[in-house]
This record gives sequence, structure tokens and C-alpha cells, in this order.
Amino acid sequence: MNYEVPNHVAIIMDGNGRWAQKRGLKRTKGHQKGADTLKKISEYIYDKKIKVLSVFAFSTENWKRDKEEVDFLMDLFITAFKKNFDAVKQKGVKVVFSGLKTKLNDKVLDAMKTMTEETKDNKNGIFNICLNYGGQDEIVEATKKIANLVESKKLKAEDITKEEFNKCMFNDLPPIDLLIRTSGEFRISNFMLWQMAYAELYFTDVLWPDFDEKELDKAIESFNKRDRRFGAVKK
Ligand code: FPP
Repeated sequence: MNYEVPNHVAIIMDGNGRWAQKRGLKRTKGHQKGADTLKKISEYIYDKKIKVLSVFAFSTENWKRDKEEVDFLMDLFITAFKKNFDAVKQKGVKVVFSGLKTKLNDKVLDAMKTMTEETKDNKNGIFNICLNYGGQDEIVEATKKIANLVESKKLKAEDITKEEFNKCMFNDLPPIDLLIRTSGEFRISNFMLWQMAYAELYFTDVLWPDFDEKELDKAIESFNKRDRRFGAVKK
């Protein structure tokens, strides 16, 4: 297919629980299958020369789920960070995490640290995993950093720009070009609000565990048909 690929794709990987329930399985089976889908899709993304992939792994609201499901997800993250993303690392992709470090257990934090350190010099792409993440929290945290810079006279209030603000987010990432949300929900759910300002939104009924390369191609095809004007008028 001959098309332009977006620079930054973000994905809300929704529908794991429903995928499992439809099959009479425990919700956790859906997360397991969802992790396999992420492995496959992340490799495909970097093969297509998409530079940045952001995924919503766990929101600050997800702590409200049953302890069994939360514990399962935390263990799944550790296993996945240790085993699942070798191919992505081999492709020279740098892994970063966005989110609050509070509430996460030491094993998860260690696995995150290892993955970050092992890939910190990679230059071929960025894999941003949003874990214990909320978009409003990210803006509040960035504001605190900006306030500290102003207080310590390292930055003048009149010199605060969008670029300076972006540098104070969890990671200094380019804007999102395409947001994909699976499972037929039409919500943003507090995901990367700042970075999504001009993103093209793509919603599909496909549940995340069933999402595959063909579905990603469809999303990119749809992105290619969009008329992105960024507020301007086309001549
Ligand atoms: C939303 O589906 C999904 C999650 C809250 C977890 C996402 C996690 C994965 C895909 C596992 C792998 C991730 C990494 C980073 C290794 P849901 O459970 O809300 O589905 P439902 O709406 O059908 O209940």
C-alpha cells in the first residue's frame, strides 16, 4: 500500500475483558491475549517506519478494578517487559514510560527501569507505555515543574511556551497524529490530552485482542483520507 504514515500513533487498547467474557473466559485471559496483540502490532508499527507509538496500559482509574485483575495486570506487565518486546528493542526503539510512580510495586518499577535503561540510547523510534497514567495528572505535574523553574528563577513566566511546557510532560514527545480506540467506545478517557490537540481520531468496533495488522492498515488508510488543516483554510 502506498500511503503516508503518521509520525505518532496512540492506541487505547480497549475490549480485553469483553473479548474474554464473550468466550466464557476470565477477564484476565483477555489481557493475556491483549499483550500478544500489542507485541505483534508494535513490531508492525516500527516496520512501517512509524516513529512513535504510545499505548494506554493502565490508567489511574484502573486501580478501582478487583484486586485479582490488578495483580494479574501488574504481573503481566513485568513478564511482557522482560520477554515480549525483545523484537522492538532489536529494532533500535527507545522505551519510555509515562505516568505516576506512586502505587506501583517494586517489581514493576524494576522491570520499567531495566527496560528504560537498556534502550535509552536507541534512536530508531519511541515506545511510550502509559502506566498509572492520567492526562490531567500529567498536565498538573508539568505545571508543578514549570512553577518550580519559575520559583528558582531558571525560567521567566513570560518565556513559558508550548515547547517549554512539552519538555515538562512525563516525556518530551511529538504531537499525536492518529489516535486509535478499539471496542466501539467513543471516548478519550483522560488519555494524552495535551499531545492529542490535533490528532485524527479513529474508532473501531474490533476488540483489542482481535486487532491485527489489517486493522492497523485500515486505520492508516482512513488517516490518509483526512484533510488536516490545523485550523487553517485550504487554498
Ligand atoms: C482495557 O480493556 C485494557 C486494559 C485496562 C489493559 C491493557 C493492557 C494490555 C493490553 C496488556 C498488555 C500491555 C502491556 C503494556 C504489556 P478492558 O479490560 O477495559 O476491556 P473491557 O472494556 O472489555 O472490560
